[in-house]
Amino acid sequence: MLANMNHELYQKIAQTKLLPLYTATDLSCLGRLEEVLVKNEVRFIEVTYRSDLATAAIKQLAASGELIVGAGTVRTLAEAKSAVANGAKFIVSPALVPEVIEYCIAEDIPVFPGTATPNDIQRACEYGIKVVKFFPADIYGGLKAINALSGPFYDVKFLPTGGINEENYLEYLENEHIIAVGGSFIISESALKKDNGQTADENLRKLVEKRDNKLK
Ligand code: 3PG
Repeated sequence: MLANMNHELYQKIAQTKLLPLYTATDLSCLGRLEEVLVKNEVRFIEVTYRSDLATAAIKQLAASGELIVGAGTVRTLAEAKSAVANGAKFIVSPALVPEVIEYCIAEDIPVFPGTATPNDIQRACEYGIKVVKFFPADIYGGLKAINALSGPFYDVKFLPTGGINEENYLEYLENEHIIAVGGSFIISESALKKDNGQTADENLRKLVEKRDNKLK
């Protein structure tokens, strides 16, 4: 069984271009998180399995229905199942995990396996996956690597994460091989905690405005 690349989530992420990567250590920040994302029309969130609150955060955010909630740092089938059972609509992994991929394909859940080499990308393609995470993007050659990999993998789009920031995200977004960028620079719990979300809101508004000016 191959991945369904016609899933509408791919079009939506290609429009938003920004995939916030969020690690929850305090569930009381989720309301504010949602508010800031909705206000800035960034309707995606990737909640990482880097804290033991990941499933609870996914459940709470998915239940409110304002955002398209996904799970990140998914390294095991158990995490993927728990995330999907609690409302996750997409799965992101730091590596290519066959049992996670096979489960997602069977459930028609878009899955973004982590890749960094031609071999990884080839393996993803064998599952019919044509959008892959490129991680850690800065260490594995950034845009130069993506351009080189796009020679043979001309039909693949990349979601770079790792080292993407306010300074370089526009350069990535301008590249035709890139569907969107992901990272913790888009919004974070620490930014939300600073001043009731004001700093987080201002940061995100700038990111969105610059994206719109650059890509219009
Ligand atoms: C990931 O898991 O995708 C990266 O750790 C994100 O990296 P960042 O924290 O540099 O955005």
